[in-house]
Amino acid sequence: MPGLLCVRTMRLILVGFGTVGRGVAESLLASEPELSVAGAEPRVVAVVDPVVGSVRREGGLDLGTLLRLADTGEPLATCPGAETVAGLKEVLEVAGGDVLVELTPTDLHTGEPGLGHVRAALKAGLHVVTTNKGPIALAYHELRTTAHKAGLQLRFEGTVLSGTPVLNLCEAGLAGAGIREIRGVVNGTCNFILTEMEGGTSYATALSKAQHLGYAEADPSGDVEGLDAAAKVLILANSVLDANLKLEDVNRTGISELTAEDIQTARMAGKTWRLIARISQGENGWEAKVGPEEVNRADPEGSLTGPENLLIFDTEALGEVTITGPGAGRRATGHGVIADLLAVHRNVS
Ligand code: HSE
Repeated sequence: MPGLLCVRTMRLILVGFGTVGRGVAESLLASEPELSVAGAEPRVVAVVDPVVGSVRREGGLDLGTLLRLADTGEPLATCPGAETVAGLKEVLEVAGGDVLVELTPTDLHTGEPGLGHVRAALKAGLHVVTTNKGPIALAYHELRTTAHKAGLQLRFEGTVLSGTPVLNLCEAGLAGAGIREIRGVVNGTCNFILTEMEGGTSYATALSKAQHLGYAEADPSGDVEGLDAAAKVLILANSVLDANLKLEDVNRTGISELTAEDIQTARMAGKTWRLIARISQGENGWEAKVGPEEVNRADPEGSLTGPENLLIFDTEALGEVTITGPGAGRRATGHGVIADLLAVHRNVS
């Protein structure tokens, strides 16, 4: 009964207006009807970006105009009604916001600049939604504790399998199911490269295509060396299984050593190479591993193509539960943010 819905305006501060940030802006525009049905009225009151500029507008910025300006390389400051701001510090002091949407590129060595943004937002009393793996992979327990103490939401669906609802599945449907093992394919770029190489494309061309299509990270070595997959495994282990692993605890090998010959030899035998991620119980608790494995083409992992990803949850209650969907891409990642914003809206309403 829409008449009884509590309509809530959510003032959003978007930090990062590159590929992911613009994908989120597009998703916000495209999902307006669904958000409205749920009673959520997101209003972007500030955008902070070191390249295209930082602006704010109390009544809300026009996303269509911001997208057009960013896509044509014009400064966001030329958006009608927009006021230029120095950066996030000023925005948090003057703009007033409900949710910080952190969309800067992932850095798995320092977590910055995202980690600083998330800490500052939680300190200022804002809920946080992020697609940035750095802060969650490197400082999940600290950030969760801070958010919990302040009664704030910290959501990061877009960090694992982009918008495919893995973390929401674990939080709701798989809660209490007794997860024994999680395994699957969690890097879209590697899967895309391996699929292309099976079709005869060279490694270098396949990687450059993955970059062009927006699947690869700003530094694609993180994808092909398995670091991106290791970060996702870490996020799953620490947030879903309450493990306390660090990035260096993940036993990691990438795909860059696989040759065209390895791939064709596997193909002739009805097999295929996939970068497999796995979290299982070892002698001292949860153990995590990422590395290339030869799998049967008919296996769920073997039949994935392009940037598609998959996770299999082996559980006490349900046996194996499999979820498959896009692991990368502008609109898919944007959807992860929409799902998180709706969850924040539900949880605080
Ligand atoms: N570079 C990542 C991938 C993007 O290829 O899966 C999504 O995290």
